[in-house]
Amino acid sequence: MTGGFVVEGGRRLCGDVTVKGAKNAVLPLLAAALMAEDEVVLEGCPRLMDVENMAGILRGLGCRVRRQGDCLTVDPRSADCFEMPERLSGELRSSIFLLGPILGRFGQAVCSYPGGCEIGLRPIDLHLSGLRALNASIEEAHGRINCLPSVLIGAPIHLDYPSVGATENIMMAAAKARGVTTITNPAKEPEIADLQDFLNAMGARVSGAGSDHITIEGVKRLGGTVYRPITDRIAAGTYLAAAAMTAGDVTVKNIQPRHIAAITAKLTETGCRLDSTETSVRLRAPARLRAPQRLETLPYPGFPTDMQAQMFALACIAKGTTIIQENVFESRYRHAAELTRMGADVTIRDRLAIITGVDELTGAEVQAGDLRGGAALVLAGLVAQGTTTVQGAGYIDRGYERLEEVLGSLGANIRKF
Ligand code: UD1
Repeated sequence: MTGGFVVEGGRRLCGDVTVKGAKNAVLPLLAAALMAEDEVVLEGCPRLMDVENMAGILRGLGCRVRRQGDCLTVDPRSADCFEMPERLSGELRSSIFLLGPILGRFGQAVCSYPGGCEIGLRPIDLHLSGLRALNASIEEAHGRINCLPSVLIGAPIHLDYPSVGATENIMMAAAKARGVTTITNPAKEPEIADLQDFLNAMGARVSGAGSDHITIEGVKRLGGTVYRPITDRIAAGTYLAAAAMTAGDVTVKNIQPRHIAAITAKLTETGCRLDSTETSVRLRAPARLRAPQRLETLPYPGFPTDMQAQMFALACIAKGTTIIQENVFESRYRHAAELTRMGADVTIRDRLAIITGVDELTGAEVQAGDLRGGAALVLAGLVAQGTTTVQGAGYIDRGYERLEEVLGSLGANIRKF
């Protein structure tokens, strides 16, 4: 990944930031749009590499996709290909979301194993077993996944683990399957309820998202719609963590505070004052943060793994010791070694990280290894003494639209190269 960010530490972040559509909501919605028999318009879509890659894959399948400002319009009527373009799907973990919609649309599919951030093994067994339960006939050979022509039939599906992507894939395929599908132990992330609302806006019959039991009654036809996805709870959390670390006073707007309750609860533990309205959260930070004692990542509504790295960076400069337990992905501490280069006191033991806050971090040249870990290094740079260069902007661009402009507007001294 080329390019990076140069951050001069020591500025307090103050002001307002308006959060845009969530990457993790937009990606499955774009995939689901393939099944519509008319145009789908998604409003408030961020300009992110992952979103552009998903649009590129849809084009590869024959859809017409155009962007006007923050609006993405997908016209799937011209789609004529059930084989995912190999190069783009190799770059995007979420390309696997397209398997369900391609099957729903064409009754057959070919794709390669998905790529994405290197944060663990990230198998797709739950996706494949869920689709097989819906009568898909799937062969895996030579790095390719072949779904042979088959008619999808609704079925009861129990997920061993509440995988976000597998829940979404099954919901999408089941929306056009014959009969009724139930998913027990599904993921409950807000993006799941958003997908339900979107599918229903297209004419699907889905209920129960957000609870322990989702029911999907298959329909013959899905139509077009105009839809505004939920906004990005992880981007919101990242800006709040940045405000907390810099003794700042920042209001994140255009969010649903209940979506970030686990994050705001942790930030409150650090001594920050948080005030919410229906659509915003304001954070006012003390001069020195208290270390959150324990932070364990869990499926929603637990603490999100996608905020672990940012809170890790925060713990590096808080007073006291924090123990982090990463339960969702098995290797998501690539940022630890880089933060150590900046003076952090960190010990990693398997899934546990023990962090003792130091008085000050020092600027260094560090390397982003994944999206959220990269963001964590930028946050550390905001408070480090001197200059921090974070290499690997490409990782960060996957999930943050113009991070340097957002942080710059809050008073940070940051530039991209
Ligand atoms: C989604 C999010 C990602 C977030 C993650 C967990 C999107 C585009 N990405 O990823 O940002 O970090 O949820 O909140 O929405 N697993 C299996 N087999 C499977 C599928 C998953 O073992 O078939 C395991 C994974 O390896 C991982 C855990 O389940 O350890 C969680 O993965 P999952 O919930 O599927 O995450 P994603 O949908 O990939």
